[in-house]
Amino acid sequence: MKPMVIDVIHGPNLNMLGRREPEIYGTTTLADIDRELNTLGASLGADVESFQSNAEGEIVDRIQEAYGRVSGLIINPAAYTHTSVAIRDALAMLSCPIVEIHLSNIHKREPFRHHSYVSGVADGIIAGFGARGYTMALEAVLEMIRDKK
Ligand code: DQA
Repeated sequence: MKPMVIDVIHGPNLNMLGRREPEIYGTTTLADIDRELNTLGASLGADVESFQSNAEGEIVDRIQEAYGRVSGLIINPAAYTHTSVAIRDALAMLSCPIVEIHLSNIHKREPFRHHSYVSGVADGIIAGFGARGYTMALEAVLEMIRDKK
């Protein structure tokens, strides 16, 4: 049997994790996060595929490629959370579980971060747990898939 595929999409500036405002985002790098997700995914029977882009259109393309192919999707749209109708519309096409994740608690920060275009099409939201939030998101999305069956 083919393992199920979980897509993990990282938005702009997350390639700089570890060096980027560590007092807010921590010192764990994106490579560390992806490695941990791979290991956890493998132990839970899921193939985790990660993608990072600083470009909105590339993120939309990646979501479209996920259509009908993946069993679940985890996304940290980063700054596009607060601006992108295009990413929201792309996510709205998917029928698999979607978990939105943020390292920081966006509701505790500047008012412009309080609104998310993505939350309205996500099945669950994790925010404020730092890098640990990604493993929480993976466990959560796998549970959602299991419960859906
Ligand atoms: C973020 C929060 C966003 O407001 C910000 O633009 C990011 C990262 C987070 O993970 O906490 O780039 O999505």
